[in-house]
Amino acid sequence: MQAARGTLEPFGDSVTVVHGRFSELGAIAMGNGFSPADMILFDFGLSSTQIDDPGRGFSFRDEGPLDMRMDPTTELTAAKVVNTSDPAELERILRQYGEERWARRIAEFIVARRPLRTTRDLAKAVEAAIPRRAWPRDINVSTRTFQGIRIAVNDELGEIENGLGAALSTLKPGGRMATISFHSLEDRLVKSFFNVESKDCICPPQQPVCTCGHRATLRIITRHPVRPSEKELAANPRARSARLRVAERL
Ligand SMILES: C[S@@+](CC[C@H](N)C(=O)[O-])C[C@H]1O[C@@H](n2cnc3c(N)ncnc32)[C@H](O)[C@@H]1O
Repeated sequence: MQAARGTLEPFGDSVTVVHGRFSELGAIAMGNGFSPADMILFDFGLSSTQIDDPGRGFSFRDEGPLDMRMDPTTELTAAKVVNTSDPAELERILRQYGEERWARRIAEFIVARRPLRTTRDLAKAVEAAIPRRAWPRDINVSTRTFQGIRIAVNDELGEIENGLGAALSTLKPGGRMATISFHSLEDRLVKSFFNVESKDCICPPQQPVCTCGHRATLRIITRHPVRPSEKELAANPRARSARLRVAERL
């Protein structure tokens, strides 16, 4: 909050900074006189400030507490997920949110090494679970596990789904929503939401008569996700996986 206030200070009273979750967007906009809105921009995921602070526990590179909370005022930490989830649930989290094909074996190794206290404890469990020859070449071997647990700790996909729904009801006709995603799970959620909301009938194609009563509420502006330019990548390599999508409220 403070960082945002500092950065936006030059805009004075035209800016209102509110601490809240994407899923609370509707109430926040209403409560601060921003509903209906002309424009809503979502910038999903983690900030560099969060990644670079070992004390937040997001990075497998640095030794830090197993925290991973995007909002430190919330309860659920990575330590709780890692040390108390039953093995099947841990496997589901790693497979579904981390897209990790070694999910079962990593879950077994984590359970066998409990209690894990630090990010290095977790990274070492992953490194021990995956045979060296199977380590990915392009990303760190712990990347997917850390992503999976982070998404579970912060209910990131649930928040995006609810946030998109809230944005739809908050936008005025002609208003636009834009989303910046950083990994395929986020982008897939946005893409399918835009696809569904840009159609009238959403009944299964083989169904002879429409029974859904659905009507399109969005017009997709970006047929394909906009990716960072070479110039932007040179200035900010962390933007390499960013995908921008835009849709207009009908
Ligand atoms: C990619 S960063 C935004 C970076 C920012 N636009 C900048 O330029 O510095 C995403 C931010 O969204 C926050 N965030 C993630 N999930 C959230 C949620 N469900 N509700 C509210 N904020 C969330 C994160 O804590 C993080 O600070």
